[in-house]
Order: sequence, then C-alpha cells, then structure tokens
Amino acid sequence: MQVPFMDLKRQYEMIKDEIDEAIKKTIESCAFVAGEMVKEFEKNFASYCGTKYGIAISSGTSAIYAALKALDIGRHDAVITVPYTFIATAEAISFTGATPIFVDIKEDSYTIDPEKVKEYIENKCEWIEKKGILRDRERKLNVRAIIPVHLYGQTADMDEILKIAQEYNLAVIEDAAQAHGALYKNKKAGSIGLLSAFSFYPSKNLGAYGQGGMVLTNDEGLAEKVRMLIDHGQKERYLHEFEGWNFKMDGFQAAILNVKLNYLDDWNEDRRQNAYYYNQLLNNTEKIITPKEMDYGKHIYHLYAVRVPDREKFQNFLKERGIGTGIHYPKPLHLQKAYNHLGYKEGDFPISEKCAREIVSLPMFPELTKKEIEYVCEQIKDWAVQS
Ligand SMILES: Cc1ncc(COP(=O)(O)O)c(C=O)c1O
Repeated sequence: MQVPFMDLKRQYEMIKDEIDEAIKKTIESCAFVAGEMVKEFEKNFASYCGTKYGIAISSGTSAIYAALKALDIGRHDAVITVPYTFIATAEAISFTGATPIFVDIKEDSYTIDPEKVKEYIENKCEWIEKKGILRDRERKLNVRAIIPVHLYGQTADMDEILKIAQEYNLAVIEDAAQAHGALYKNKKAGSIGLLSAFSFYPSKNLGAYGQGGMVLTNDEGLAEKVRMLIDHGQKERYLHEFEGWNFKMDGFQAAILNVKLNYLDDWNEDRRQNAYYYNQLLNNTEKIITPKEMDYGKHIYHLYAVRVPDREKFQNFLKERGIGTGIHYPKPLHLQKAYNHLGYKEGDFPISEKCAREIVSLPMFPELTKKEIEYVCEQIKDWAVQS
C-alpha cells in the first residue's frame, strides 16, 4: 500500500466542477488582480474568522510583513517570536529592518511559552550580558510586538500573551498561517491579536492553487494602512501617499478560495477525526509521542506531528513501506546559518532544539482513509517492536 504524505488531487476531484466554474468566471469577468473575486473573498474570510477587516495579499510571508509595516515597525525595533517555526515568521521581521528575538516553545503545545516572553522582557539586560557582545546592539532596540505562531493547527495560549502585551504595551500579531478555523476558547485563530496573518499556500487547510495570504484586523486605520501598503501606498490610483509594494492577490486564487472556504469546517472536522484515529491506534505504542490538544482550544491538525527517538531510521522504515512523511522543521531558526549574526548558540532554546530533532509529520489530509491510517499505524507498531 502507498500512503502519500499529502494528496491535493483527491480534494480537487471532489470539487472539480465548482473550481472549474470559478476559474471560468474569473476569466470571463477579467477580474485578474484584486477585483470582485478578491473583494468577495476578503469579506467572506474576515466574516468566517470574526474580524471586521480582511486584506487579501500575495502570500503569508507578505501578510506578516505588511502587518508589521502597518505598525511602523522597523530598524530600531525588536519583535519577539519563536525559533520553532517556518522561517517566514522571522524573515518578515528582519525584512522590515527590525530584529527577531527568539523565545522557546512549550513542549505540550509546540507554541510560544508566555513565561519565556515575560522572562525576556523583564530580564533583557541581564540576558544580553550573559550572551555577550554579539547581542549588545539589542540593548538599544525597542521591543514592539510579539508574534505567536499557531503551529501545526493549534493556537498559542493567547490570554497569557495578551496579558503580557498589555502590561508592556506590545502589539500582538498572530501568525495563523497553519490555523484556518482553529479555535482559542470560543474565538477563531486570527481574530485575537491586533493583527493576524494567514497563508493560503496550496497545502494549507485552506489552500489556493498558487500563492496567497490575508491580513485580518478589527482596527480600521490599520486595515487601511495595510491596504495601501500592498498597493504602492495608494488609495486613489496613481496618488501615492507613501511607498508601499505590490502584494496584491490575484483573482484566480480568490475565486478558488471562495469555493474552498465553504468546505473548510468539514475538512477540518475530517482532519480531527483522522487525528483521533491515529491517537487511538498509537495509544500504547512505546517510543512515540502523539500530539496533544490543549484544553483551551480546537486543534485543526494542519499537520499531525509525532515525536520519535531515531527519526531518520523511523522515516526510512516508513518510506520502505510506501508511507510519506515530512519534517516541520529540522533545524530551529536560531541555529540556521541565516541567523548566525544574531549570536544565538546551541542550548539557548532546549525545547525547540529537542522537538526539531524528534519531530516527524505523518500523512494528514481530510481525504485520508481509515484503511490508510490503519496501515500507517501497523507499520509504526512494527517499527516500535524492531527498533
Ligand atoms: C507558520 C508559517 N508562517 C508563515 C508562512 C508563510 O506563508 P507563505 O508560504 O504563504 O508565504 C508559513 C507557510 O508555510 C508558515 O507555515
């Protein structure tokens, strides 16, 4: 049996007629860039998440960047986030000229540890002293914002983050790129911070057939600023109030996403059922740590990530049996060459480092069958016995 890590074709086959019709309509209306389809999708997605404003954008990376720029975050600023995420979170910070400051994650949720955020803010100078000269410039930076990442489809502990943000007058930007439809208490991911950023990369729970993203906010001024930022700083055509960029979403993506949004809740529910089934079948398997759903929210399992002791062997074992897996992510950002200049070293964020060594994502998508999950789990049990 072959079980792919992901299969986007199965989903397309199910909704082919609607998708094909939406693409045809876009061509016929010539609404290729930021037109009617985009406006409709902005309205629909913001309403789905429970925010007043949604600004469709070209990618999740540009969504985080635009959210930071809307707050005028730049060269003299620092933004706190986690090293256990896709690089886009930190890249967007650096791209504004600001400095990413990493704090470790919690081992149960794989999301930002609010205690570590507080610890950093309260002991910043002491901490820099300990880390030495490379971090000396950090002394002069203003910490302006926190970006919690709702990793794998589970939200960070937002009340704790909001409390800290309020105490120290920091903005909270949610990186909700992996959390379309996830809940924190009774709130949708992306509706909790001052701004939030989504990605519609094809493999996401709500995925386009190309690149796409969205910034959400309830703040009218920030929404307007983002809207101008993504369109050359203009409100009226060819009247540029400041320099922006071209980050607009194309019409095809919006038309496709409008169709797919209608299915998002069902697909998320299917993912949850798949995750429960994995949990149930792997329950007593030694050497494997299955994901935990926090009491405070609803996980939508963008990824079903387990932890195992000897990952390479585990992955090869499954590969030989026709099972696809992935690693999200093999190296935490503070140990990446791209961030050498920040002066972090091994041991700075032990939980991120440990998770990065052990994590493996198993096949997970709404159309995955029970038979496929059973097959994957049988092989894992075989591995547990043999290893
Ligand atoms: C946590 C996280 N943030 C940001 C992004 C960036 O999104 P995009 O690929 O749409 O630029 C991703 C995409 O994979 C992501 O997983």
